[in-house]
Amino acid sequence: MINVIKVKDYEEASDKAFEIMKSYLKPGKVLGLATGSTPLGLYARMVKDYKENNTSYKEIKSFNLDEYVGLPIEHPESYYAFMHRNLFDHIDIDDNNAHVPCGLGDDLEKNCREYDEMIDNDPIDIQILGIGSDGHIAFNEPGTAFDSKTHVTDLHQSTISDNARFFDNDISKVPTQAVTQGIGTIMKAKNILLIATGSNKAKAVKDMIEGPIDEACPASILQNHQDVIVIVDEAAASLLS
Ligand code: F6R
Repeated sequence: MINVIKVKDYEEASDKAFEIMKSYLKPGKVLGLATGSTPLGLYARMVKDYKENNTSYKEIKSFNLDEYVGLPIEHPESYYAFMHRNLFDHIDIDDNNAHVPCGLGDDLEKNCREYDEMIDNDPIDIQILGIGSDGHIAFNEPGTAFDSKTHVTDLHQSTISDNARFFDNDISKVPTQAVTQGIGTIMKAKNILLIATGSNKAKAVKDMIEGPIDEACPASILQNHQDVIVIVDEAAASLLS
């Protein structure tokens, strides 16, 4: 079931997300993390909280949702680099506990299988999600099977265009494939917290919450999860009835 929390804007959405996240920042917890613009406000609040309150991540583990294929981890737009720049380098999480899928090497299928095994061994307590303007979660584009596991996927043109802003606005520089947790993997998380802000998310938010559960809107499967909170700002909520 989806519980919707409506807030005014991005700052309020980030405050609310941190308030929820805070109760998971305890030894033994496993966090599911996302990249993209949406969680940046949340991560800034986690860093501030670490600095001000010494909230320790030494016994916390994390699993990110996805990573581009073929982008070296040192590339500033790799999700590995993104996570280090925006969160991991500013808190005391053990590098060995902060997992990001690997989009490099000869055997990506093996990387995917191993990632699922690690998550099965350390189930995610709270999964942070953003949503794509086409309703994707992680890099599960419309049409992805609801029971999919971690896999290699081709990015849709709309996602490549959305992400071009991170690659000098040059579509030709955006990787065309990613390793992503599957929808089935995401659905195993005990709790899910999805944040959606801005008018470009309004249609996807409506389809996710009020539409049919259909692979055309990957996020609509969240209606079947027992514990989902969706934080939406006024613009993203504008099409909700
Ligand atoms: C990122 C991810 C993506 C984003 C989505 C929204 O790890 O899995 O699904 O959450 O593309 O991106 P932003 O937040 O940039 O609007």
